[in-house]
Amino acid sequence: MKQQKTAFITGATGGIGKAAALGLASKHYRVIIHGRNEEKTAAVCKEIKKITGNENIDYFIGDLFLMRDIKKVAETFINKHDRLDILINNAGGIMSKDRKETAEGIEATISVNLLAPFLLTNLLLDLLKRSEDGRIINVSSNSHKLNAKPRLSDIELKHNYNPLVAYGNAKLFLIWISQYLSEQLSSQGLYNVTVNTLHPGAVVTNFGVNSNLGGLLNFFGKLVRPFFKTPEQGAETIIHLAVSDEVKSVNGKYFENKKIKLPSEKYYSKQNEQIIWNYCRTRTENLINKNV
Ligand SMILES: NC(=O)c1ccc[n+]([C@@H]2O[C@H](COP(=O)([O-])OP(=O)(O)OC[C@H]3O[C@@H](n4cnc5c(N)ncnc54)[C@H](OP(=O)(O)O)[C@@H]3O)[C@@H](O)[C@H]2O)c1
Repeated sequence: MKQQKTAFITGATGGIGKAAALGLASKHYRVIIHGRNEEKTAAVCKEIKKITGNENIDYFIGDLFLMRDIKKVAETFINKHDRLDILINNAGGIMSKDRKETAEGIEATISVNLLAPFLLTNLLLDLLKRSEDGRIINVSSNSHKLNAKPRLSDIELKHNYNPLVAYGNAKLFLIWISQYLSEQLSSQGLYNVTVNTLHPGAVVTNFGVNSNLGGLLNFFGKLVRPFFKTPEQGAETIIHLAVSDEVKSVNGKYFENKKIKLPSEKYYSKQNEQIIWNYCRTRTENLINKNV
């Protein structure tokens, strides 16, 4: 008999992450959801079991703004599971109009949208390598095409902060580090683990609801919401990347509506990709060593 596959989804307490968790649970995967609030996450876990009849649902708690919490989540996960088949780095979002730093001193947008998936993926990589078909799925956004304006000398936007640019940059960098990792895996002959990114579409969730981006953007946001996808529609590309045989060996690609699309190449170069990978590595290593 085939072993039941395990999927781990961050930010699954609502929106696209919860819809993806429900989708995978109804396909009989073992689904581990992540949230930052114990009560809310436990309630979602119970709800998924009730709706799908799948009892193989569990949860982990951690604040993805904090590298020390991510390390704890990964350690607990490794203690409990000896293999991981699907890692979905979904948690993320846009921040408010004023620049904020996390308790660890990282600009908040880059912390949750880039450094959190970077660190969690690297800490769980050995478990993914044990899967015969390991899939890392990073939820990016087409905001990387619309809003990114990276300045690699000021990655955390200490100067001229703008929430849309911060978000667009973080999602662009997430694509770059995913491409970088996919090449690393192939160059090491590890063809059983793939890493891909996607844009879920414009989806009605809590995304941006509490961000307070400023008058005009708040107004525009409310105006266009009725035309957005449902969370279930928003989760379709994630579920496709998680389960479909069609994408089993597809590695290092960016998807929209279940199809491979070219990400923006405007700011791309091998050298820039390497700079961002190095930034993620040193920033997370320094914080983790400090927190030991
Ligand atoms: N909605 C869209 O139109 C859209 C478009 C493009 C890309 N995306 C991307 O899709 C992903 C899912 O977003 P969504 O639309 O479903 O938004 P959402 O409804 O706001 O859900 C975001 C999830 O991430 C969690 N999260 C946020 N910050 C966290 C932190 N510091 N630590 C732990 N968990 C945290 C939230 O937890 P809480 O429940 O505790 O807040 C929630 O479960 C995000 O990466 C977003 O950037 C969304």
